[in-house]
Amino acid sequence: MEAELLDGNLIASRIKEQVRERALHLRSRGATVGLGTILVGDDGPSARYVEMKRADCAEVGIESFHTHLPASASEQELADLVQSYNADSRIHSYLVQLPLPPGHDEDGILTLVKPEKDVDGLHPMNLGYLAMSRPRVLPCTPAGIVELLRAYGIGFDGKHVVILGRGLTIGRPLALLLALNRPGLNAAVTVVHSRTRDLAAIVKSADIVISATGAPGIVTASMVKRGAVVVGAGTSFAGRKLLSDLADDVAEVASWVTPRIGGVGPMTRAMLLLNAVMAAEAVAGAG
Ligand code: GUN
Repeated sequence: MEAELLDGNLIASRIKEQVRERALHLRSRGATVGLGTILVGDDGPSARYVEMKRADCAEVGIESFHTHLPASASEQELADLVQSYNADSRIHSYLVQLPLPPGHDEDGILTLVKPEKDVDGLHPMNLGYLAMSRPRVLPCTPAGIVELLRAYGIGFDGKHVVILGRGLTIGRPLALLLALNRPGLNAAVTVVHSRTRDLAAIVKSADIVISATGAPGIVTASMVKRGAVVVGAGTSFAGRKLLSDLADDVAEVASWVTPRIGGVGPMTRAMLLLNAVMAAEAVAGAG
């Protein structure tokens, strides 16, 4: 058996088309959707991600605002910049690209972002609403994973989902999202991580495996139940080559699997655009 591919590029392109229409509608009412990006330092992958996000904006009619600070920028300079984005009415929402260079207080900066402009859903207030089962803006990668599987008719209801990784951007909010009492969600979620005993045995019991570790090839065929759905959401690089958390042989046992390129990544970017247009709609008044 060879698994079928969860084509993130295809599903993302449909979402982007909806975003383009909604952005156009707002424009007809005199509002141009504005999305801000802040990059600190010269991390290669982060710079490329931000470039792609800005190219996506141009594609769907969202105006992007960008600032690149050097890694040597002080905490105060970054905080001042965040406050200026908070105050700029052209910027309906924005993100500070993570990770920040060593020495910066990521939690402190995320907390300074005005919650209504938090396009990432990573402000403690927005994560708190998610934890209270009243989600507002959803973190982009978790939301993208749910949309990707939904597009292929794969729901989470009642299924055992094992998430590898408990990071801020994927694992932790994804666990909260999948366990919500809502049709299509309602999963039984297990989160495993580097200190988990018998990790392979736990993964093997999953109906759906979602790996968000950034450890290339950590999920192998021998750990996966035959017919399981397997999603690679972690990223790492060998030079410029993007590596997946999933070993190639996973496709031999899974029913559905994400490709190394064009799986979760484009979905994350599409959900970012969707969050951006919703932030602008909230300001303009829906309709
Ligand atoms: N770096 C990796 N993933 C993310 C994300 O979802 N948001 C931000 N701001 N930075 C990231």
